[in-house]
Amino acid sequence: KSKASTSTSSATERFSSAGFILAAIGSSVGLGNMWKFTYETGAHGGGAFFLLFIICILLVGLPVLLGELAIGRAGRGDAVYSFAKVTGKKWWGIFGFVGVLAAFLIMTYYSTIAGWTLHYTVQSLTGELYKNPDYTATFSAFTGSMAPVVWQIVVMLITGFVIARGISSGIERFNKIVIPGLLIILVIMLVRTLTLDGAAEGVRYFLYPDFSQLDFKSALSALGLAFFSLTLGMGAMLTYGAYVEKHQSLPAATIAVGGGDLAYALIAGLIIFPTIFTFGIQPDVGPGLVFVALPAAFASMPLGSLFGGLFFILLAIAAVTSCLALIEVPVAFVMRKWKLSRPKATIFVVLAMYVIALPCTLSSGGVLTDVLVGGRNLFDWVDFITMNIMLPLGGLFVTIVAGYVWKHSAEETGLKGRTLRVWAFIMRFAAPVLIILIFLSSIGLI
Ligand code: PFF
Repeated sequence: KSKASTSTSSATERFSSAGFILAAIGSSVGLGNMWKFTYETGAHGGGAFFLLFIICILLVGLPVLLGELAIGRAGRGDAVYSFAKVTGKKWWGIFGFVGVLAAFLIMTYYSTIAGWTLHYTVQSLTGELYKNPDYTATFSAFTGSMAPVVWQIVVMLITGFVIARGISSGIERFNKIVIPGLLIILVIMLVRTLTLDGAAEGVRYFLYPDFSQLDFKSALSALGLAFFSLTLGMGAMLTYGAYVEKHQSLPAATIAVGGGDLAYALIAGLIIFPTIFTFGIQPDVGPGLVFVALPAAFASMPLGSLFGGLFFILLAIAAVTSCLALIEVPVAFVMRKWKLSRPKATIFVVLAMYVIALPCTLSSGGVLTDVLVGGRNLFDWVDFITMNIMLPLGGLFVTIVAGYVWKHSAEETGLKGRTLRVWAFIMRFAAPVLIILIFLSSIGLI
């Protein structure tokens, strides 16, 4: 028997039931839903893409999410430890390490964008943002300055502080405070945007499926985005799963988290598309959509700087709660591996992240933007490697472990009868095949 299967559990802290659901929703609801999701929906023609995204979440995302939580709870450790523990073979831990590395790397550029949202919140609330109506120029002046470096440090300090405090007095408490705030702001923004003149047109674009716009590639993007949005394939749900009480229902948690994530994507679309249609902005402008296009819309709205400020706070809360999961994955690993206390492991991980995070920030509009290696700068490389390679691989390993290698996965999920058979079929066949397709497509092989 391998050592991993006989050692005791490494994760001893626990979430409360509600705290876990909030923290998991906090990790899944993030820039993926508001920033990536909206510009990809815009790029792929609107409603039909959203419909595909929903299907991907329901058919593939939720089963894989349940699998990840089950591995985490049975393994009771970080991603590497839990993989080794449930399979009974130490070398399986190497596959868990893909998740640890993915989360570590995603944080290096995710924190850049999270920093942008904090800057835009302040600029909007003070009205500074609306002084120059050329928002593209404002955005490039900002990304070309040293301000993003400072904001990224602020993000790292806030998230590092929360993580260092631990599961219940750090992650859980923070999410319990900010997630209800996020909901309130969402509702205020929704009422505001649905009463705009162009709301009907925006809602139609977002919700009416025009299938002529879809192709195989957009289907794969929808699946990739569903994975990113649910935080799958990077060890985050697996790591959070380790802190879940034995009596908590994992299927119920899966539905709550998936439902929360979908609802948030729906509301984000209902906020963003009516706004841009009312103010005559093209929906397919790409990643700059929320930073360049939306300020123009807020500027022409009564009380625009207040609504703009609320919108960017929304984005900032969503981003920071996701950063918590991204840091926790490597922190849990380092705590066990090097037997460090939580605060020490956090300091170590944040400093190590910063070595890549700083040049990432400088590559997205700053002095390193044009330093290209193989046609991409650092920011684009980290995004490409994590999104297109590590995430699909991480997801694939989860399906293989939960579907084939680990003998007790079905018991741990708590599913029974037909639902269990459907879940097992998805984990063993449907999900791996689809994930391999996304992977081949994203590295340009199909
Ligand atoms: N799910 C987050 C989003 O949609 O923005 C992204 C994310 C968060 C990915 C946390 C990974 C993670 F560990």
